[in-house]
Amino acid sequence: MSGFGIIGTGVIAAMHAAAIETLPGARLAAVTDVTAEAAAAFAAARGCAAESSLDALLARPDVDVVCVCVPSGQHAEVGVRAARAGKHLVVEKPIDVTLASADRLIEAARTAGVTLTVISQHRFDLGLIELKRLLDEGALGRLVLAEASTKWYRTQGYYDSAAWRGTWAMDGGSLMNQGVHYVDLLRWCMGPVTEVTAVCATQAHDVEVEDTALAIVRFGSGAVGTILSSTAAFPGFPQRLEVTGTEGTVIIEDGRIVRRAFGVQAGTDPRADPGGGAVGAAADPAAIDVASHAAQIADLLAAIEEGREPAVDGRAGRDALEIVCAVYESARTGRTVSVSRGDDPP
Ligand SMILES: NC(=O)c1ccc[n+]([C@@H]2O[C@H](COP(=O)([O-])OP(=O)(O)OC[C@H]3O[C@@H](n4cnc5c(N)ncnc54)[C@H](O)[C@@H]3O)[C@@H](O)[C@H]2O)c1
Repeated sequence: MSGFGIIGTGVIAAMHAAAIETLPGARLAAVTDVTAEAAAAFAAARGCAAESSLDALLARPDVDVVCVCVPSGQHAEVGVRAARAGKHLVVEKPIDVTLASADRLIEAARTAGVTLTVISQHRFDLGLIELKRLLDEGALGRLVLAEASTKWYRTQGYYDSAAWRGTWAMDGGSLMNQGVHYVDLLRWCMGPVTEVTAVCATQAHDVEVEDTALAIVRFGSGAVGTILSSTAAFPGFPQRLEVTGTEGTVIIEDGRIVRRAFGVQAGTDPRADPGGGAVGAAADPAAIDVASHAAQIADLLAAIEEGREPAVDGRAGRDALEIVCAVYESARTGRTVSVSRGDDPP
């Protein structure tokens, strides 16, 4: 039985607690939050302990794994302390908001010999599992084109609900917070991105970050693609990933395959839609399905047990962040940005 601790008991922490509850080998032991009342209320509702500080939570011998659910710009700071205390790590997305912080966290986990997974729960949506299988089989032929689109809507009230939201230091904009999910899926399906040309704008919110980001990307494979992310797209639409190869196309919406057309009889593939997608957070940040978080946490536990890397490791989290940072740099400078690391090891 693995004991879990949750650090930060806000919106997404409830998803982690619910996911842990579904796993037979996992038990929520304790939570902590800088707001003691928030931690106490969260703990009381779930029958676990509330610790008054991060150090107290990390000192507990019955906590083997921590879920880092604090604002994005604090993921590395908190995660490094947890790694040094010997705790395995489930870190919410994005891994952090700068590559230097991401590197610090990855290195701390490596040095401490703990396992780190960065949440990208949509990799565990059934439509994505099926798409990845098709790509690994080469069913779409040589990849030529991909589109990742997050046209969501967030109110000004959402940004005003916590001081960290919509800030460069702690959050990043629509792409860093909301779009990063499908940026990771794009990178996972298409391979390394080598070049990014982008435009960002703040259209419909009073925030310092962008609420709309558009980018054209080149992949190392020679394929090209686009990324679109917005929190200004009223009333909010399903997240989409479209992957096109020389032999056909698969289109995902909110984790489900909605169109698959490939092979000699493109458009008439009789295989059924595997279904089982995620619930969409198009207009409501909390409207996500517990199954995919649970699957990712189960994969972490299996990785610890088997002494292997988890399906979404620190490097994968860094790769998605690197693309987001390149989009921001391109939009800021008006220039095409090379994603220099490509497929080199960290
Ligand atoms: N995977 C997903 O679909 C998903 C969805 C929502 C949020 N997230 C991610 O989860 C993270 C948290 O987002 P949220 O919406 O839950 O935020 P939130 O503001 O609702 O909750 C954050 C909590 O962390 C606490 N906190 C802040 N600093 C802390 C510290 N140093 N130690 C302990 N507690 C601290 C705050 O008091 C707050 O209760 C973000 O990184 C976000 O990107 C992921």
